[in-house]
Amino acid sequence: MASMDRTGVSGRLRSGDLLHAGLAVVLLLGVWGVSGLEVSTGKVSSIEAMNGSTVLIPCTYSSCIGIKDLFFNWHYNDNGTMLKLCEGEIPMEGVEPRGVSVYHERIEFVGSSKGNNISFLLWNITFEDQGEYICFARNPKEKNRNHTAIFTLIVVDQLKDPDSSLTVVIVSVLGGVIGLAIFLMVVKGLVVNFLLDGGEKNKDCLVNSGNDNTENGLSGAKADNKGTPKA
Ligand SMILES: *[C@@H]1O[C@H](CO)[C@@H](O)[C@H](O)[C@H]1NC(C)=O
Ligand SMILES: *[C@@H]1O[C@H](CO)[C@@H](O)[C@H](O)[C@H]1NC(C)=O
Ligand SMILES: *[C@@H]1O[C@H](CO)[C@@H](O)[C@H](O)[C@H]1NC(C)=O
Ligand SMILES: *[C@@H]1O[C@H](CO)[C@@H](O)[C@H](O)[C@H]1NC(C)=O
Ligand SMILES: *[C@@H]1O[C@H](CO)[C@@H](O)[C@H](O)[C@H]1NC(C)=O
Repeated sequence: MASMDRTGVSGRLRSGDLLHAGLAVVLLLGVWGVSGLEVSTGKVSSIEAMNGSTVLIPCTYSSCIGIKDLFFNWHYNDNGTMLKLCEGEIPMEGVEPRGVSVYHERIEFVGSSKGNNISFLLWNITFEDQGEYICFARNPKEKNRNHTAIFTLIVVDQLKDPDSSLTVVIVSVLGGVIGLAIFLMVVKGLVVNFLLDGGEKNKDCLVNSGNDNTENGLSGAKADNKGTPKA
């Protein structure tokens, strides 16, 4: 009995060890999979904007292992040539970016430690600003692995499509309202005509005198006059 107990206990220990080893492997894989730093330009990584407007080119970073002297920069892909737009460093979490240099006259860096934000504003955009903006970050804590995310800017002359479709909607709604108004007026005219006719017929039946004939003729003409311009 004692020997059986012992084997039972050691069996349980062994399965427990296996469980621990399994957990450790899963945890390691998890950490490996998340891989520290991530940069993102958001769920919709492109924007369509009118020339002359000012746009936010967004980028955020996140790190599960924490950051230390995170280096970041922005490049513009100018037909294959990478133009550096700005760069800076974030000493650690919750500390504002420092040593930020901007190499473009219409760029205003608006990043902050709040929201791990390394976005910038591009003022008064022109058609030449169209293209890919590359957000780059490197965290020395994880052997200087490079991380990038791309944001695409599309510059349009006017936001044509929604504008014209809105016009179509307005025109058709207006058309519908005017049509309904005309229809109601015609119906009203017909109903009034019908009531007047009925009234006169009743009068005819009741009074039955010579004067009523002229009245009937006049009111009939009036009704005709009313009816014709609306038809
Ligand atoms: C946008 O570009 C068009 C054509 O180049 C120009 O006529 C227009 O003035 C520009 N709009 C703005 C707001 O700069
Ligand atoms: C780069 O721009 C030139 C003209 O400015 C154009 O001819 C060429 O095709 C472009 N190259 C790429 C890779 O888009
Ligand atoms: C953007 O354009 C406005 C008006 O044209 C001008 O006042 C402003 O200084 C421009 N901003 C930049 C950053 O170029
Ligand atoms: C980043 O900061 C700018 C300026 O405060 C703000 O407009 C933008 O929404 C922020 N982006 C994110 C993703 O938090
Ligand atoms: C990261 O990018 C830099 C250029 O910014 C390059 O020199 C370096 O080799 C890259 N490192 C890796 C691991 O890709």
